[in-house]
Amino acid sequence: MKNVVILISGRGSNMEAIIAARDAGNLPVNIAAVISNRPEAMGLETAAKASIPVHFINHKAFAGRESFDAALAECIDDFSPDLVVLAGFMRILSEGFVRHYEGRLINIHPSLLPSFPGLHTHQRALEEGVRIHGCTVHFVTPTLDHGPVIIQAAVPVLDDDTEASLAARILVEEHKIYPQAVRWFAEGKLTLENGRVRLAAELANSGTLISPEIR
Ligand code: GRF
Repeated sequence: MKNVVILISGRGSNMEAIIAARDAGNLPVNIAAVISNRPEAMGLETAAKASIPVHFINHKAFAGRESFDAALAECIDDFSPDLVVLAGFMRILSEGFVRHYEGRLINIHPSLLPSFPGLHTHQRALEEGVRIHGCTVHFVTPTLDHGPVIIQAAVPVLDDDTEASLAARILVEEHKIYPQAVRWFAEGKLTLENGRVRLAAELANSGTLISPEIR
């Protein structure tokens, strides 16, 4: 069974969705550890309740990004991860860190990348007036919120949407696509080859999840 390490900074609802999929017998992985850079991350409690080893590494205790990333990698590598899952981990990672985990480091972002990298994606989508918005799971590259796309879910932007309503609708989709991507990886059906995502033949066209409201 593949070893997975999950990195969080806060609420941890995507982590929870992955734990729930595992508990339901839908995700054959060993969640070896959950690591947070913030002690108050709510997700740490959730993970501990699920009897998953939790670790806290305070980024503020390090002089710079490189030294924090080195300590983080050391902690992660203690668990011999096959896959490292960024689930609301609010730190920009150094190039060396990202290269170390090439092909086994994935992230979820609340927009249809490459649109709206960075923060406040839902507010920006409303301001731009886009009609379709969503979320993306991708392999991580040294560029922030960038990298080969594994799966995306699209939802319509409704006339009366607020930042909160849009965020809530998209979070529901995030909780579907993240466990899905981890499952594909765990089953050996998802790889990164020469910078491109390769899905097993039977998964052709599975990387798109369109909400039923879009016709
Ligand atoms: C999610 O919206 C995710 O897409 C983004 O940060 C948020 C984390 O939420 N990267 P949670 O901690 O998983 O609840």
